[in-house]
Amino acid sequence: LVLEEVKEYIRDPEDDTELTDRTRDLGLVVFGDNVILLPQTNQLIGLYSIIRDKSTKRGDFVFYSDRIIRLLVEEGLNLLPVEECTIQCHGGNEYKGSKFLGKICGVSIIRAGESMEMGLRDCCRSVRIGKILIQRDEKTATPKLFYEKLPEDISDRYVFLLDPMLATGGSAMMAVEVLLSRGVKMDRIFFLNLLAAPEGIKAFNDKYPDVKIITGGIDEKLDENKYIVPGLGDFGDRYYCI
Ligand code: PRP
Ligand code: URA
Repeated sequence: LVLEEVKEYIRDPEDDTELTDRTRDLGLVVFGDNVILLPQTNQLIGLYSIIRDKSTKRGDFVFYSDRIIRLLVEEGLNLLPVEECTIQCHGGNEYKGSKFLGKICGVSIIRAGESMEMGLRDCCRSVRIGKILIQRDEKTATPKLFYEKLPEDISDRYVFLLDPMLATGGSAMMAVEVLLSRGVKMDRIFFLNLLAAPEGIKAFNDKYPDVKIITGGIDEKLDENKYIVPGLGDFGDRYYCI
């Protein structure tokens, strides 16, 4: 049922008036205005097939998750505003190109979100990174905030919020609340996420419609323990521990 509700977000193909040219050109699947699913290419589905497989060992889990993370970071960067510029090339030729506008920073939700920091650093040299420690209670699945340390000037920045798993949405919503309380504008938050449940996407998008969610996969549902189905298990444990 919840997946059906999310599907209602899918646009009428005849009506693409609100899509930006950039988004349309990239061929992204867009749910609602700000829920963006990476193109489900053979390559991407192959990567997910490896990390979903319970027999995949940690080395491969890390390697292939990192490849997906890199795609999410690149996609987030693609959605930043740019302005045109003209470059002087060799031989006196000119090239009309573009350059990014605005400053960015990353904010990871500890622990699993830290796995996405290197992908961001690989693309954005010396990017500032803040941390928010939120843990989901293992019995109730409700999130608890323990710690935050964010760049002083975060309210002037686009924020790439990093967490690979969006299940109920409780942790991500708590993190957004922290960012808003520090003066970050809602439409400057880009939530990069590997795998989402429809329940989480709906709750998050209903509450923060101006935050962009960029995800690589949307699964069927949550199970009775609020784990994503079919999912990939506990991301943090698989990336860091087992
Ligand atoms: C996981 C995950 C998200 C959260 C998602 O973290 O990384 O932060 O659960 O669930 P939700 O959408 O229902 O809040 P967890 O608290 O298990 O800690 P970890 O990062 O240490 O694995
Ligand atoms: N956290 C995870 O790591 N996996 C889930 O399926 C849900 C929350």
